[in-house]
Amino acid sequence: MKDFNNKERFFKMAEVYDKLVQYLIPKYNFLQEEVLNLLTFDMKMQINIVDLGAGSGIFLEKMLKRYPNVKCYWIDYSDDFLKVAKKRLKKYSRRIKFIISPLEENWTKKVDEKIHVITSMSAIHHLETYEKKNYIKLVMNY
Ligand SMILES: C[S@@+](CC[C@H](N)C(=O)[O-])C[C@H]1O[C@@H](n2cnc3c(N)ncnc32)[C@H](O)[C@@H]1O
Repeated sequence: MKDFNNKERFFKMAEVYDKLVQYLIPKYNFLQEEVLNLLTFDMKMQINIVDLGAGSGIFLEKMLKRYPNVKCYWIDYSDDFLKVAKKRLKKYSRRIKFIISPLEENWTKKVDEKIHVITSMSAIHHLETYEKKNYIKLVMNY
């Protein structure tokens, strides 16, 4: 039997994450819809958003669908989740940039536009305390 560490085991979930998450996180879709409801943009403006630990891109898909002028940055360190997200968000390829990076390292250097909104769901708890401190510094200084 292959001995995956926890991180690798998690990455292997990428393909089935969409189904699994509905059981793992109560009211998953409801919570995401509520976040979208809080974002009252002027629809004529181009709004740029970063989703940290964006995973398979479920939230970004809702965002891109609801706001036609929004441009998104998918940020995550998992190649497995990247594959799933790219497939899901193919039709929005002109409005999304994929950045592979740990959240606690300098992903900010790879974002080349002004960012209006930063979102993150079910990702930060994966970080160790020292990583969380770096992450907070990056977000707060952005
Ligand atoms: C439970 S999934 C959540 C995905 C998405 N935000 C959602 O709510 O459906 C956690 C995601 O965070 C990513 N992640 C965890 N720790 C990370 C880190 N230190 N740097 C970058 N991504 C990380 C994982 O690769 C995974 O895609």
